[in-house]
Amino acid sequence: MNTKMKAAIIEEYGSNEVVQLVEINVPEPKADELLVKVHAAGVNPIDWKIRSGAGQRLGMNLPIHLGGELVGMIEKVGVGVDGFDPGQVVFGMVHTGAFAEYAVAKAANMVHIPANLSHIEAASLPLAGSTAWQAIFDKAKLVAGQRLLITNSSGGVGSLAVQFAKAKGAHVTAMSSARNEEFVRALGADDFIDYTSQQFEQVARDIDVVFDTVGGETFQRVFKTLKKGGFMVTVVAFPDGEAERYGVNVERSFTIPSSHNLTAIKNLVEAGKVKPHIEKILPLAEIKTALALSEAGHARGKIVLRMD
Ligand SMILES: NC(=O)c1ccc[n+]([C@@H]2O[C@H](COP(=O)([O-])OP(=O)(O)OC[C@H]3O[C@@H](n4cnc5c(N)ncnc54)[C@H](OP(=O)(O)O)[C@@H]3O)[C@@H](O)[C@H]2O)c1
Repeated sequence: MNTKMKAAIIEEYGSNEVVQLVEINVPEPKADELLVKVHAAGVNPIDWKIRSGAGQRLGMNLPIHLGGELVGMIEKVGVGVDGFDPGQVVFGMVHTGAFAEYAVAKAANMVHIPANLSHIEAASLPLAGSTAWQAIFDKAKLVAGQRLLITNSSGGVGSLAVQFAKAKGAHVTAMSSARNEEFVRALGADDFIDYTSQQFEQVARDIDVVFDTVGGETFQRVFKTLKKGGFMVTVVAFPDGEAERYGVNVERSFTIPSSHNLTAIKNLVEAGKVKPHIEKILPLAEIKTALALSEAGHARGKIVLRMD
């Protein structure tokens, strides 16, 4: 096994210039951790947000090793870990350090990968999948027959949320730009709204649950689509008195790693009900291009880095 590895780190906050690909020691797994040889790592908006300064707000210390989700082969098993052996391929969220040739991961947050996905596809699921799951099922308690509106249905999170909600038996209204209509309908969306040309609050009515991943003005206006007593869950906005004003419930969801959620998602994948969409695969050496693509805000599905 190598003792040195390449890793993407930042030593200061800023734009892509602060991202460095460095050669450092392969980490050692502590108790309850796994050392994983990373095969692929999903890129998420949080990665460039951390690079831009959100790391400070999140209480992270510089230097920060970038990357929050991975697929890889177990190299070493830390003390006290049960259920995992070297050579097995796992996927899941990590606190930091997925954009590297090796990473340590909490064993409790890792799950064996779905049998019917490539490593690239599986690497796209943990963070976006857990985000969608926790928002629509754990927070909003979406059930079969309810009407769900998703404000951004074509991105990493929304494209999975559409499929999870359809698998549950909900009615899905998907908001996207027109170029993504065919894509989100193929994911299972029942109704489509083009946010670039339609006043969505005049089209959608009596919605039970809104899942917002856009925020800003969209978040403010989309309350009008909810029925009285409906539920708004957002992963971007900070609610401020809207619940009382509109007679609805509002919650902000912060994604946490969950092997329980990941196992439920894996089951849907293996049942053929969910398939991630990959916009672009790039080598680790092109980390800056990957972050810039994510930051541009127009990816359909996910961007994934491959390590080998
Ligand atoms: N709180 C948490 O724990 C948490 C966890 C995960 C994600 N998030 C946040 O959730 C947001 C979405 O994440 P993501 O990974 O899904 O992002 P993403 O993959 O980067 O989203 C890209 C997609 O957004 C669409 N889009 C851009 N502007 C839009 C608008 N105004 N209305 C509707 N769709 C629009 C784009 O399509 P077009 O170009 O065709 O419009 C593109 O397909 C990010 O801000 C992320 O940081 C928060």
